[in-house]
This record gives sequence, C-alpha cells and structure tokens, in this order.
Amino acid sequence: MELSSILVIHGPNLSLLGKRETSVYGSATLEDHVNTVRATAARHAISVESMQSNSEADIVTAVHNASSNHGAIIINAGALTHYSWSLHDALRSFPGFVIEVHLSNPGAREDFRHVSVLAPVVNGTISGFGGLGYSLAVQALVEIATKK
Ligand code: DQA
Repeated sequence: MELSSILVIHGPNLSLLGKRETSVYGSATLEDHVNTVRATAARHAISVESMQSNSEADIVTAVHNASSNHGAIIINAGALTHYSWSLHDALRSFPGFVIEVHLSNPGAREDFRHVSVLAPVVNGTISGFGGLGYSLAVQALVEIATKK
C-alpha cells in the first residue's frame, strides 16, 4: 500500500515541550518534533499534517476526520494515553496505521503511566528514545505500509 499522508497528533501539555520537565522530556519543542516527522516523511514523499490539543474532544474529532485524509496517524497522546477510552474507541475505528510515540519511557516511571489504554488499538509503540522516536515512527510506517 502507498502511504501518502500522515497526521501527527499531540495531546495535553505537549505544547509546553522545551519548557516542561526538560530533564524528562528534553529541550526540543513540539515544533522541533513535528519537523523531525516532516523531514523523515519528505524522504518518502509523504505529506504531514499536525495538530495539538489539550482537549480530549478535539483529539477524538481529529481522529474521526483523519479517516478521509490520512493513511496513518502518529500519536503522542500525553496523559490521555493512560485513561482515555474515548480515544481508544476512536483509534479503533481508524482504518489506517497508528503508531504511539512517547518521548520518555512510561514503563520506567510512576505506576499510573505503566498502562496505555491505546496500546491494544495501535500497530506499535515507540517510547524512551526522545525525539528519535518520531523518525523511527515514520520509518516503521513506511515499512509496514510497504508490506501491506
Ligand atoms: C508522554 C508520557 C505521558 O505519561 C505523559 O503524560 C506525557 C508525555 C511522553 O511523551 O513521554 O505528557 O506521553
């Protein structure tokens, strides 16, 4: 299958990247990470759209709308990862590929971060590699889309 467009979704508080808990999340901004996705995707002639919201409703709606425009989603849902069953259900209905990305390694942090309610409805998860995770996510999408 030819992958032509990726939607990058960021959840609550990720607009603060670069200022927020830099010892955990690093000094790169949200824009830096989206640019990483764009640069990696451009090498494969894939276009990229990006959205960030602190609102669960906006993110669920973005996933609904992605069905008609995008073959894949890369999502760092922030804390919604750990409790948003509405986002779980929305992603379950998305017909394309989904890669979950986390800058940190949630499994090595507080107990509440150990569970991802999104994990059962994504193709795979990349966590703990900081910004590198975003280019790995694009590479994973290219590979799995080619095999489909
Ligand atoms: C995060 C991990 C989440 O537990 C946290 O709520 C975030 C960021 C990460 O990228 O490491 O907001 O998704």
